[in-house]
Amino acid sequence: MRYTLECIECGTCHNLGERAYVCEKCGGLLEIKLSDMVDLDISDWSARPLGVWRYRELLPIEAGANIISLGEGGTGLHECRRLASVLGLKRLHVKNEGENPTGSFKDRGMTVGVTKALRLGAGSVMCASTGNTSASLAAYSARAGLRCFVMIPAGKIAAGKLAQAVVYGAQIIEIDGNFDDAMRLVVDAARRDGSPYLLNSVNPFRIEGQKTVTFEINDQLRRLPRVIVLPVGNAGNITAVWKGLLELRALGLANELPRLIGIQAEIASPIANAFKQGLDHIEPAAKPETIATAIRIGSPVNWKRALAAARDSGGLIETVADTEILQAQKMLASQEGIFVEPASASTIAGVRKLVDEDLIDPDEETVCITTGNGLKDQEAVAFSTERTTKAKPTRESVMAVLAQSCSI
Ligand code: F0G
Repeated sequence: MRYTLECIECGTCHNLGERAYVCEKCGGLLEIKLSDMVDLDISDWSARPLGVWRYRELLPIEAGANIISLGEGGTGLHECRRLASVLGLKRLHVKNEGENPTGSFKDRGMTVGVTKALRLGAGSVMCASTGNTSASLAAYSARAGLRCFVMIPAGKIAAGKLAQAVVYGAQIIEIDGNFDDAMRLVVDAARRDGSPYLLNSVNPFRIEGQKTVTFEINDQLRRLPRVIVLPVGNAGNITAVWKGLLELRALGLANELPRLIGIQAEIASPIANAFKQGLDHIEPAAKPETIATAIRIGSPVNWKRALAAARDSGGLIETVADTEILQAQKMLASQEGIFVEPASASTIAGVRKLVDEDLIDPDEETVCITTGNGLKDQEAVAFSTERTTKAKPTRESVMAVLAQSCSI
């Protein structure tokens, strides 16, 4: 297998052994390209445990490298019959990425990204984050023995995610600004010599790890679904999922690829707006706002590849309102026992809307990628209208409560 690091704008090749995030010629994002795919021997895959490193031949890390792993990937693909029938679909699956070691899909990218950081001889790593990236990077850098800096928008990330970054020992830099400001600042810092290695999704090694979710879906279902739905924030994940699908096709493991449907929150939806208006640029959202704090992003760095993924796959980018997200979160939890954070629930809200609008056909087998665990963001559940029932610590009181609801 041959890997090259190429600019997505001008095609200039860069050295894989150096730190590079953007093209030195034109400033475009860099992407890892794989060639000689037809000669790849994948006969071992089925004998290995399901997870990111099952697919190591498709990951640009040299054999013999010290892999920094916490057992990422291998998440459940759950068929949701009850929810499917409520939503009007024949077959719906949830690929629950909240089952990853730090509770989000970011771990897939970090196992590869932090392994690469060590290969490059970095002593420290950094990221900007709405919460999950910081939790994941903090864990993987702890495992690797690297110093970690995370920049977060003050007061704008879920308490559970902040707690993770604290306990894993990251140095947390809070800024009085939003995620887009934090992103701009870390990208700027990364240009200076001696600064920590940047592990946001501008880093092409992150994308490589994240693409493995599509290989797992293909292995678990033994086919690809017709539609894959995922939340879109900075748009790294939709970029990764599309790259994974194209590689499956290049390997001869898939013919027809699914339509990719990205979901954004209504007041943080520059890519959906561009998609709907047929634009080739985005108008950043100056004041992104949503209960789904993970995707509260106004100026996504990977917007171009997200638009291409939706267009090239015959998919689309849609928006959902916060009330729809919260209803969907409750539906998935109460109908199927799967508790996801609001950003992830946006996929269920999106499916509901798109089935109603005839933009997803009931016959199309659909997989929603739920990206983060609900336990990380318990504040969001406080918005739920349902309350607990109070009882006195006596048998009579408990029996009275049960009698009210169960006709004992
Ligand atoms: N879902 C969750 C739970 C996320 O944490 C994120 C992004 C996304 C979806 C969107 O993914 O950015 O690749 O389009 N979280 C980042 C973070 C921004 O800092 O944790 P994307």
